[in-house]
Amino acid sequence: MTEIKASTGPAYARIYSVGSATPSRVIDNEYFLQFIDSSDEWITQRTGIRERRWIGEGENIETLSLEAAGKAIERAGIDRSEIGAVILSTISHYHQTPALAPKLATELGIPDAAAYDVSAACAGFCYGLAQAESIVRSGQAKYVLVIAGETISEITDIHDRGTAFLFGDGAGAVIVGPSETNGIGPVVWGSDGSQEGVIWQTADWHQAVSSGEFPKLGMDGRSVFKWATSFIAQATRKCLDEAGVSPDQLEVFIPHQANDRITDTLLRYLKLPENVVVARSIRHLGNNSAATIPMAMDELLTSGQAKSGQTALIIGFGAGLVYAGQVITLP
Ligand code: UT7
Repeated sequence: MTEIKASTGPAYARIYSVGSATPSRVIDNEYFLQFIDSSDEWITQRTGIRERRWIGEGENIETLSLEAAGKAIERAGIDRSEIGAVILSTISHYHQTPALAPKLATELGIPDAAAYDVSAACAGFCYGLAQAESIVRSGQAKYVLVIAGETISEITDIHDRGTAFLFGDGAGAVIVGPSETNGIGPVVWGSDGSQEGVIWQTADWHQAVSSGEFPKLGMDGRSVFKWATSFIAQATRKCLDEAGVSPDQLEVFIPHQANDRITDTLLRYLKLPENVVVARSIRHLGNNSAATIPMAMDELLTSGQAKSGQTALIIGFGAGLVYAGQVITLP
């Protein structure tokens, strides 16, 4: 048998930098009252959301992703020709093929990078980060650019009382690269396809063509809420255990921004100390699907609420159903 060389790489990986982009249109809760029977008070109390950002003139998933990625590359201070892989996590690129990541890589001036899209909904960023960590540690790329970009406003059913007000648009990106100490803990991830009908696209392409209507996003909010506050709560604990980190060692908590009440339940479950910094970007950004975690991370770091080098727990969960989480060192 011919011996085949295996790839080898550095012992550890870490996140070097984060960048994000928010679109220009600010949409408050009042906006939805012309379409659904609701109130600003109900939306704020039941979700935490006061406003969200939607794309406006000239903005789209490509412009947002490029802006977030550009910031991350610049802040990492690396030579972009050393980025060997570009991963875009999204459910908002409304083309079956080609993927958007190759085009983004070319537009960012990254030559000949492996580039592909990941479809893991609100867990997409953590899925991409897990892959990036493995790619770096196996030596298959020196640096990996992970982008999460979403424009869920384009598939939001504005007349649906259960989802109209939930989602926002935006993008976040990180550079992952080699490290002398470990900065990304083992991923805890999984899926449950028996719950495919809990968050869904209202029509596939065939149905969309015959009905003439662009598909929307549907969700059984109560079921997702229950799953997030029970199964996902246990998964957060597993992320800490796998990383060998105890709740009192945690400094920052960045759960997927789906609902402030879900975040509150996870906090109670983990019994995190009072001084842990908790992401609450949902309040002014809404739920940005795959992009919530890097967007919230960037906001906490640039506002000074969190600091580089702190230990953070991140976890994403959503349509599939799928989930993924890790303990990380903040860039
Ligand atoms: O990112 C992907 C993951 N997504 C999530 O994690 C979302 C998880 N789910 C949620 O965040 C929540 O389920 C929602 C915010 C979507 C809904 O909140 P809820 O507390 O689960 O509402 P519900 O469906 O249980 O309804 C409670 C009450 C009902 O009234 P009654 O029967 O108690 O009188 C509804 O009719 O709230 C009423 N209601 C509303 N009232 C005003 C439902 N929707 C609305 C509305 N405005 N838009």
